[in-house]
Amino acid sequence: MKRLNDHRLIIGGEELVPIMVGGMGCDISTSKMALEVARLGGIGHISDALSGAVTDRHYKTNFIKTRFAKYKQYSDNNNKAMEQFDLGAVLEATKILASKTMEAKKGKGSIFINIMEKLTMNNPKETLSARLTGALDAGIDGISLSAGLHLSSFSLMADHKRFRDAKLGIIVSSLRALKLFLKKTVKLRRLPDFVVVEGPLAGGHLGFHVDNWFKYDLKEITKEIIGFVRKEKLPIPIIPAGGIFTGADATEMIQLGAQAIQVANRFTVTEESGIPFEAKQEYFKAEKKNIVVNNLSPTGYPMRMLDNSPCINAGIQPNCESIGYLLDGNGDCSYISAYYEERAKNPTGPISVKDKTCLCTHMKNYKTWTCGHTTDRLKETTNKLPNNLYQLLTVEDVMNDYLFSPNHEFILPKPVASETPQSDQSRGDSKADRVNQSATKILNNIGFSS
Ligand SMILES: Cc1cc2nc3c(=O)[nH]c(=O)nc-3n(C[C@H](O)[C@H](O)[C@H](O)COP(=O)(O)O)c2cc1C
Repeated sequence: MKRLNDHRLIIGGEELVPIMVGGMGCDISTSKMALEVARLGGIGHISDALSGAVTDRHYKTNFIKTRFAKYKQYSDNNNKAMEQFDLGAVLEATKILASKTMEAKKGKGSIFINIMEKLTMNNPKETLSARLTGALDAGIDGISLSAGLHLSSFSLMADHKRFRDAKLGIIVSSLRALKLFLKKTVKLRRLPDFVVVEGPLAGGHLGFHVDNWFKYDLKEITKEIIGFVRKEKLPIPIIPAGGIFTGADATEMIQLGAQAIQVANRFTVTEESGIPFEAKQEYFKAEKKNIVVNNLSPTGYPMRMLDNSPCINAGIQPNCESIGYLLDGNGDCSYISAYYEERAKNPTGPISVKDKTCLCTHMKNYKTWTCGHTTDRLKETTNKLPNNLYQLLTVEDVMNDYLFSPNHEFILPKPVASETPQSDQSRGDSKADRVNQSATKILNNIGFSS
């Protein structure tokens, strides 16, 4: 096999382009991005992280305002146990987000939603159940269960009428985690439809320790998991993720026995990505030394980010009254204690909190520049323009490059004269015709018609 496009992914009897663009919360893998991926025959993800805020942003709902009105009197209180989520609203926000995306879907690809267990929302089980139900009610094609072991998540969906027809998969970083999941779900007689194996070079949160992530190797973990599913004759497609940067990297994974790849980092700098224009330029400018793995996330998982992310050392007041996605089952979050410790030392002036970050607020405002290990190479994939800015790519540019470029080379996009924040926002429409024409060409090439 010379190119990724020579291969197809089969999930639940459906044939797909073997590219899954991973969930990137919150609202980095936008509906727009997922829809483009699906139009081109692959699997795109939306994320339900902060679904209330994302739904308010795109669909003029009032989830955040309503929650804030209810709890604003507790803003100065470091005990947040009383700030429970309205489960109906949680379900509704995910449902709106997913159904609006599904209504706009074109083409033969799929749209999945990324649901993270670690978003514990002051009531881990009930809020997770509401999110899963909202996504299934909305008719989402599939769900990727991530950031956690998800030992009970299948049982939370077992009574839903779509439990057996929606594509349900899990993201793991070890064979041990996969075995635990299978052991727990065996009684439901429902295997996952896919397993994403996420290695140590991925973006977002990592399933490895902050001190030794670099000792692990995605290929080795993938080989071990493929060996296990083959030995047990489990018909589960295995999809590696993390640091797969070129089309040739992807074909190497297929040759190992993977059915598809999950990628994300290269899509952060597309027009369809939710990251603001200026931050996308920071991703392009990054050098290897700027990409760090730290323990700032209150989830307890290490996270990879650019070392100039505005969230680092910021000392903002916790914002749980509006968002509060990381409150654990007791209404705690490690940022709250870190913040109040610093505040006690300096009751009135500005403070800096070094150990943790207010991830909900900073992710919502795109101030946590989480990224993959290969972010320093993004500049190789595009043109540097005369005004010294990097040209944004489109989802289609990146998909094509993965599918068609051999030998670790890149197909660079056709240069534009200049790049500005305005062109990032407006070009979506003005460029649509060009995108549509070339997409049709590619779909014809690979045997799909939209
Ligand atoms: C900016 C960014 C945000 C991410 N956010 C999430 C997330 O919210 N949930 C999740 O399961 N994975 C998340 N990931 C991981 C990706 O979905 C994907 O598995 C991984 O990054 C693939 O490796 P690559 O980025 O090297 O292509 C994120 C990755 C990036 C780059």
